[in-house]
Amino acid sequence: MCGIVGYIGNRDCTEILLGGLEKLEYRGYDSAGLALVDVDNNIILKKALGKLVNLKEEFKGFKNECHLGIGHTRWATHGRPSVKNAHPHLDCQERFILVHNGIIENYEELKEELINNGHTFQSDTDTEVIVHLVEENFDGDLLEAVKKTINTIDGAYALGIMDIKDPEILIAARHGSPLVVGGNEDEKFIASDTPAILKYTRKIFYMDDREIAVLKRNSIYFYDYEGKKIEKMHRILNWDPLMAEKAGYDHFMLKEIYEQPRAVRETLFSKIKKEKFFFEDLKIDKERLKDLRKINIVACGTSYHASLIGKFIFEKVLRIPVDVDYASEFRYRDPILDKDSVVIVVSQSGETMDTLEALRIAKDKGAYTIAIVNVFGSTMSREADGVIYTIAGPEIGVASTKAFTSQLMTLYSLSVYLGEKLGICFESDNVVRTLKTLSPMIETVIDDVDIYKQIATNYHKATDFLYLGRGINYPVALEGALKLKEISYIHAEGYPAGEMKHGPIALVENEVPSVFVVNKSPLYKKVISNIQEISARDGIIISIATNGDNLIQKYSNKVIYIPEIEEFYSPLLTVIPTQLIAYFIAKKRGADIDKPRNLAKSVTVE
Ligand code: F6R
Repeated sequence: MCGIVGYIGNRDCTEILLGGLEKLEYRGYDSAGLALVDVDNNIILKKALGKLVNLKEEFKGFKNECHLGIGHTRWATHGRPSVKNAHPHLDCQERFILVHNGIIENYEELKEELINNGHTFQSDTDTEVIVHLVEENFDGDLLEAVKKTINTIDGAYALGIMDIKDPEILIAARHGSPLVVGGNEDEKFIASDTPAILKYTRKIFYMDDREIAVLKRNSIYFYDYEGKKIEKMHRILNWDPLMAEKAGYDHFMLKEIYEQPRAVRETLFSKIKKEKFFFEDLKIDKERLKDLRKINIVACGTSYHASLIGKFIFEKVLRIPVDVDYASEFRYRDPILDKDSVVIVVSQSGETMDTLEALRIAKDKGAYTIAIVNVFGSTMSREADGVIYTIAGPEIGVASTKAFTSQLMTLYSLSVYLGEKLGICFESDNVVRTLKTLSPMIETVIDDVDIYKQIATNYHKATDFLYLGRGINYPVALEGALKLKEISYIHAEGYPAGEMKHGPIALVENEVPSVFVVNKSPLYKKVISNIQEISARDGIIISIATNGDNLIQKYSNKVIYIPEIEEFYSPLLTVIPTQLIAYFIAKKRGADIDKPRNLAKSVTVE
């Protein structure tokens, strides 16, 4: 949450930094700010409440040439969204300028101490203590001052700090919040996430916790908190910067929905060699698996819903019990794990704080940890014992879509791979063949947009929606409800269809739509009964059914058809209509689809 970006180099950087903030806006958009030093050593500091467009407005007609700057886009934690709470923040002498992503937990004590020492605060943020501490600790050497400061603060942070009196240096520090450093010969960048700088450089250093980077135009040096120099290896990223552009779509979310056939195909293809599954970065041997009695999967939000489907997949393929936990619960419930346990964390960003902490707890207890992540080089990918990348490409829309289906593809592939290692599954050729058919099927489900537009026209004024499914499609119902509520702000609940009669059915009346996943499955008839229970109470029925199912028309106000597929694989198809229903309803309601209120894409606070 919150995005920071910084530049030092030979180019004029105002547009570079504003462009970088645009790519980071998914991390928060309560306010934005930019501090620059121009060639005449003037300091320019502009902030604006709300989305980045407001800050861009402030820079209209701005012509000063600047070679150093830091910017911030905020998701408010301490201090309500306002201009005074927007970053960058200054010290009392207005010499040091700072941007921060994270939370300083001991800021109240520090603030009191600083005020007693004569410092004056301008904002209600936790962040401002850091820049006053730099001022307090400065004795001619910025690196020393930063080092002293970060040894005083507790919590999570990614920082960018400049000294107006020395525009030849930019300092960054990381503990607990993501931060990358990148650069070319004569220019260097810092950013919370790579898409912010991908247009200019593909040479990326991933900062680890308790590291400081000192950036000059021609050099980058890394230090630990004791001031010892660290040698860090860079990586060359092969993400195409165009993947982080809207490419003519109205919203990133729609573009990302359309990208799913490619995302799942590439995810699958990256895991097969000669029609067998192959996981390059998963160093798990037969010996490690021989005493495997249970698998834990841990995640948040949409990734949690993918993990619930993972439970159905693993239990069917491996016949090993699987527990799925919300990371925010798992980390505090003293989970029973040991060296024979396997814990899989699932995360698009690879940075979600609760999931990351869950991973660390699992590691501490001796479990073998696997991270399924989308962002290359993310903290989880570096800390887990084994890593599996989904090849979704950058997901910018706050509502996750292509990451979800790519996670499912990975879970199917991984289950069979582990099954083969355990000697209990020998069907990988068949599974590969079936999984290969899914990408074109997803394409056909997406292509029929008229039906989603009609549903949006008819039902966008509803105040409540229900989403219902059974078995492996019950988590799809949860995901459909989450998608609708987060981008359209309509109250929606997902339930296992058979559970309706135990309470939620009380919500049904003639203006409440229920979206049923009613594809071909052994429980088809049971779902039809559940539909009838709702019809009998005048509820509106939208069904996601299998091609050729004419019976369902009789029970539904609208039917969306998906191609015929074994129930086991069907979530990869049934989820697509739920994404498009949410998208077109939100659009019809005029909602800000890519930046829903109160949300941020990467939740790096507890
Ligand atoms: C919903 C959504 C969130 C994320 C959740 C976990 O559309 O995007 O619920 O799924 O915040 O994020 P990751 O997967 O990055 O750990």
